[in-house]
Amino acid sequence: MTGPSRVVVTGRVPRPGLDILRRDGHRVEVWDSEDQQPREQLLEQVRGADALMTLLTEQVDAELLDAAGPQLKVVANVAVGYNNVDVDACRERGVVATNTPGVLTDATADIAMALILMTTRRLGEGERVIRSGTPWQWGMFYLLGTSLQHKTLGVVGLGAIGAATARRARAFGMNVIYTSRSSAARELETELGTHRVDMDTLLAQSDVVSLHCPYSSSTHHLLSTEQFAAMRPSAHVVNTARGAVIDEAALVEALREGEIAGAGLDVFEEEPAVHPGLLECDNAVLLPHLGSATIETRTAMATLAADNVAAVLAGREPPTPIG
Ligand code: GLV
Repeated sequence: MTGPSRVVVTGRVPRPGLDILRRDGHRVEVWDSEDQQPREQLLEQVRGADALMTLLTEQVDAELLDAAGPQLKVVANVAVGYNNVDVDACRERGVVATNTPGVLTDATADIAMALILMTTRRLGEGERVIRSGTPWQWGMFYLLGTSLQHKTLGVVGLGAIGAATARRARAFGMNVIYTSRSSAARELETELGTHRVDMDTLLAQSDVVSLHCPYSSSTHHLLSTEQFAAMRPSAHVVNTARGAVIDEAALVEALREGEIAGAGLDVFEEEPAVHPGLLECDNAVLLPHLGSATIETRTAMATLAADNVAAVLAGREPPTPIG
């Protein structure tokens, strides 16, 4: 172990994560606010830091890495998605980048399943009726949704979260197909009773399309006008991945025109902004990026990120490096 290091944490994280770093004797500086630290101030703050623990709302780019300086050894992103981190810029500077896979799989799959239920059963609409004081009464044809049993879930990206969502959907009686860059292990396909199809087949055959792929230039607007047109008019789309995997303007159009039946979104293209058209679509269920938002999960994320920082600062391999 070398001497104590300076660790800058770019936002509030659960205490156990910070305790790990303090126990090792590191000097930990936390931006202790729910509001994001102004960028100029952050660029000052990171100067001379040995490690950064970053939230997904932070752009970790060449500018930030250079502001920190050449002693920077590790950037630990407290998220599984790392589209906010310029991994190449880290590599070029010899900075280890890490993320937090695994610990948020179930929490995120729970939210995907919740959105599948919310959109297909029109639960957001029902809630809004009650809260707005709109008169209502039980009716045979009132707010009818669609059942999940014997319907097909199309999973885009059968990684850990996609598979966990598929498991839940199977428990609700759904069949599962998936598309992914590579085939899943045979055992996983057997367990989920699933098989890989191409994107066109998935769009044509799915009653619910659920997105679980990482965001990158190759998944930017993966679902846009053409893809919505290829979906069934009765189909729903659910996004717990990253907002820009969907072309939001095209989604608004598809929801308005009845090209698809509904959408459940936990993430948005320009978070925290939401496309104004979506707010007007009764057939859209909108959540404020709650995928990993449980006490247990956020604690596990902070702990894993801190373990990554501690390992690199001690000259060891981090548990979950990116790439
Ligand atoms: C949440 O969106 C995450 O990537 O961890």
